[in-house]
Amino acid sequence: MLLPLENITLIGAGTIGLSFAALHLRSSASSIITIYDPRPDLEAHVLSLLPNYLPPTHPPVPTLFSSGRLVLSPTLSAACTLSTDVVQEQGPESADFKTSLWPQIEALVSPSCHLWSSTSGIPASVQSSQMTNPGRLLVVHPFNPPHIMPLVEIVPSPTTPEVEVEVASYYFDRIGHSPVVIGKETTGFVANRLAFVLFREACRLVQQGVVRAEDVDRIVEGSIGLRWGIKGPFASYHDGGGANGLEGFLENVGRTVEDVWKEGEGPLEDGWKEMVVKQTESAYGPVSPQNFVERDRITRRVLEVIREEREAIAREKAQGDTASEEK
Ligand SMILES: NC(=O)c1ccc[n+]([C@@H]2O[C@H](COP(=O)([O-])OP(=O)(O)OC[C@H]3O[C@@H](n4cnc5c(N)ncnc54)[C@H](O)[C@@H]3O)[C@@H](O)[C@H]2O)c1
Repeated sequence: MLLPLENITLIGAGTIGLSFAALHLRSSASSIITIYDPRPDLEAHVLSLLPNYLPPTHPPVPTLFSSGRLVLSPTLSAACTLSTDVVQEQGPESADFKTSLWPQIEALVSPSCHLWSSTSGIPASVQSSQMTNPGRLLVVHPFNPPHIMPLVEIVPSPTTPEVEVEVASYYFDRIGHSPVVIGKETTGFVANRLAFVLFREACRLVQQGVVRAEDVDRIVEGSIGLRWGIKGPFASYHDGGGANGLEGFLENVGRTVEDVWKEGEGPLEDGWKEMVVKQTESAYGPVSPQNFVERDRITRRVLEVIREEREAIAREKAQGDTASEEK
């Protein structure tokens, strides 16, 4: 049984930092979340944005401050102490910043403190290159916004001990998220690699005049977006192959799959960027905070329905198993 991680320091309180603050606060009534971010408007920023990420029934942010559950730290050394269980970093996406930060943190915290980075792409092996014990660091890459999206990619460096992977996986699993351990450090980890390959093909199809940008969105929302939220590509195509499963699917449409893969190779022609930006801006206009409120509201509801239905199916299966054992 791994110990609970109650004393968490967040480095950087931008989009991802505040969302993680909400997740950690919501997940335990006794956790203490300390934030270090040198932005001059930190308190006003936290007071104005964090309430949007917390459930309506959660103690309000001023109460979290007065009860000591949420602490804004003026310095890195006050934020990272011998009693810190985890330091989780989500400052600027810069290798220089992250590489120079970790040796400072390593000198402040206890040897048992867990060190996590939320980076989208700078591997732990790069970030930890100046550390005394580089294996301590691993990546916990979220999907934005992490207080709602379940996935956390746990990406150890080649020298990270298994126990650090277990601790991070256990933590995110226990708070109801979906940690997935990635076997090798690879550019963009896995979720973004998959998304960016699809995005490249979408840009190519728009540039070639096959489809307009907003129609790509409609196609994804009405087909693979919905389907893959319930079952991923392997499980879906396994179902799609009927009685012969994935093998049957690849026998049926494997030729088309390989033809599409061949056509999708290579860089896009010049001008693709201007074209997709123009089409997207004319379809949707400027981005407003309301966009995120609506996105989060619908995402929460979809996740609730998926969870409720999975639980109901598991209950029905368990009842069916018990009934057949009793026969
Ligand atoms: N935005 C995303 O979709 C997303 C998704 C997954 C991971 N990430 C990763 O999370 C990290 C943060 O991204 P973001 O989108 O929250 O960026 P952001 O710009 O919103 O926030 C970065 C924060 O870091 C703070 N900061 C600047 N200098 C600092 C310092 N010296 N010490 C501590 N904090 C400092 C800034 O004041 C800012 O509040 C990046 O590494 C990024 O790759 C982002």
